[in-house]
Amino acid sequence: MLVVRKIKEIITLVAEEKLKGKKIGFVPTMGALHPGHISLIEISRKQTDFTICSIFVNPTQFNNASDLTHYPRTPEKDIELLKSASCDLLYMPDVNDVYPEKDVREFDFGYLDTILEAAHRPGHFNGVAQVVSILLKNIQPDLAFFGSKDYQQVMIVKSLVKQLNLNTEIVACPILREADGLAMSSRNMRLTGEERKIAAQIPKWMQEAVLIIKNEGVDAAKRFVLQKVDQVPEMKLDYYEVCEAETLMPLKHLSPGKNAVSLIAVFVGKIRLIDNWMIN
Ligand code: PAJ
Repeated sequence: MLVVRKIKEIITLVAEEKLKGKKIGFVPTMGALHPGHISLIEISRKQTDFTICSIFVNPTQFNNASDLTHYPRTPEKDIELLKSASCDLLYMPDVNDVYPEKDVREFDFGYLDTILEAAHRPGHFNGVAQVVSILLKNIQPDLAFFGSKDYQQVMIVKSLVKQLNLNTEIVACPILREADGLAMSSRNMRLTGEERKIAAQIPKWMQEAVLIIKNEGVDAAKRFVLQKVDQVPEMKLDYYEVCEAETLMPLKHLSPGKNAVSLIAVFVGKIRLIDNWMIN
């Protein structure tokens, strides 16, 4: 696996691979890799001929300075994991290579940038759009792979690609979970042993809430989740919403033939975790 730190090197290498007729796959990450990230590399390897991963903790998407400082960084281990997964190329830049000058672009995602994560992390998706647009414009992959764990992010990135008329297809990939159901996340490693046990309740409550949504409606499910979270002193609910899967418009009732998704953000101690569960 080649490791490069300059985007110019990637542009040359990708051009060479494209000349050979190879299909390029791209997996952007912020590192501290876990099997969830590696599953994206594996999907890319199946669907393309040359897989590029990027590791870059993007400062512009952090609306909380302390979250950025404490974001886990494990570069040596990440490189080993990517090698074992047969990733072809890793881009691991400095901030100056991604942002040679301050990025002042403001994107407009309309409704999508007013709800859920956007409402609780102002400016977050603008930062995601800045970095993803820079990466996609330079690398020009045929396919780019994103995890459905960040459900709203996938929708934002699809909208970004449309707005900028980019020639990359965005592929949404399944959420990988720990054995006890907790969605894998780089943030999980910052939980204490006790918090980690508590966090495993989140997907369990979400599944139980699906039954409540079906039998008693959305409001009853919201009351159920809030009551469960409130019973645990270490936890604080940021939001729990049930939305139409295609648009993320909030739902009061399920409608036949339309998919819905429930989405949660919850603090466990100081760590903010997100997850989502499809409701068919
Ligand atoms: P990061 O949180 O490192 O995640 C990189 C990719 O891995 C994202 O597409 C995310 O949805 C996916 N992912 C994380 N946990 C997963 C899991 N348990 N199962 C499947 N996929 C999972 O998301 C970002 O970085 C950044 O916002 C980024 C897109 C790189 C822009 O900076």
